[in-house]
Amino acid sequence: MSHKPFKAVIPAAGLGTRFLPATKAMPKEMLPVVDKPAIQYVVEEAVQAGITDVLIIIGRNKNNLSNHFDSVPELESNLLRKGDQEKLAKVQHSSDMADIHFVRQGDPKGLGHAVLRAKAHVGDHPFVVMLGDDLIDERDPLLTTMLAEHERTGAAIVALMEVDSAHIHQYGVAVVETTDNPDVVKITGMVEKPTAEEAPSNLAVIGRYVLAPAVFDVLEHTQPGKGGEIQLTDALQEMATSEPGVYGVVFRGRRYDTGDKLDYIKAIVQLAADRDDLGPALRPWFKEFAAKL
Ligand code: UTP
Repeated sequence: MSHKPFKAVIPAAGLGTRFLPATKAMPKEMLPVVDKPAIQYVVEEAVQAGITDVLIIIGRNKNNLSNHFDSVPELESNLLRKGDQEKLAKVQHSSDMADIHFVRQGDPKGLGHAVLRAKAHVGDHPFVVMLGDDLIDERDPLLTTMLAEHERTGAAIVALMEVDSAHIHQYGVAVVETTDNPDVVKITGMVEKPTAEEAPSNLAVIGRYVLAPAVFDVLEHTQPGKGGEIQLTDALQEMATSEPGVYGVVFRGRRYDTGDKLDYIKAIVQLAADRDDLGPALRPWFKEFAAKL
């Protein structure tokens, strides 16, 4: 692991329109995945990779998010009185596991704009960006591989995943050159949400990035792109054309996009089926249910 003080930035200020009306008064990052909000998995992933300073970019409905990572004295004393140590530990875990900070985005002008809001907190250090609705299974660590690749190259590192042509239009897609490592590619360009015909490869950018603070200078002058939003992809595209460039780590593990309704449902079923407390009852029920479909 790196000895550098990496901080994590989790943008969670999007409008989450695909999940309306659930997201009318609640950020999509707070939607429960089994029994934890999606964003808690992401903070746990950062902690697992050795990062304990986490900045969450919040938008409207910020209270939900900040309350979740705060202590709740009346709930804690109630559980303490009842002697329910197990539940007490669950409540305290989300406020104790990391040093969580918040900054407001104001107008949600895009992911690039959200990341730029982290400039003052991040300072002069490389940092990671983790999308709060994009879950990477803890059994398939990705961030540590990306941090190691950043240490080796000094370049910006993005996570990539092979996506079939039917879904490629939902992603930023990389133009790549191979390297000696089959799981690492050099990125020479990026196309935001291309059609299947326009897509330069089947490698889509997923929600994990290791970035140097130089990205802020690029974002300062990045103009609104696709959808009228300031896109992180456009800043990365510019960074790919100069040294030390941008590299992609190809992730072949389990990933759940909880910002998408169908993937959200799949995530809950998959994660619950693997759990010791729910799996033994869920799996046979699910087989029976599926047989009737
Ligand atoms: P998405 O495009 O998935 O989020 O952004 P969205 O716009 O909220 O989703 P829909 O399409 O309307 O349902 C990817 C990530 O970037 C954050 C989102 O919260 C999400 O984690 N984001 C996006 C911001 O923080 N600010 C923005 O202005 C845009």
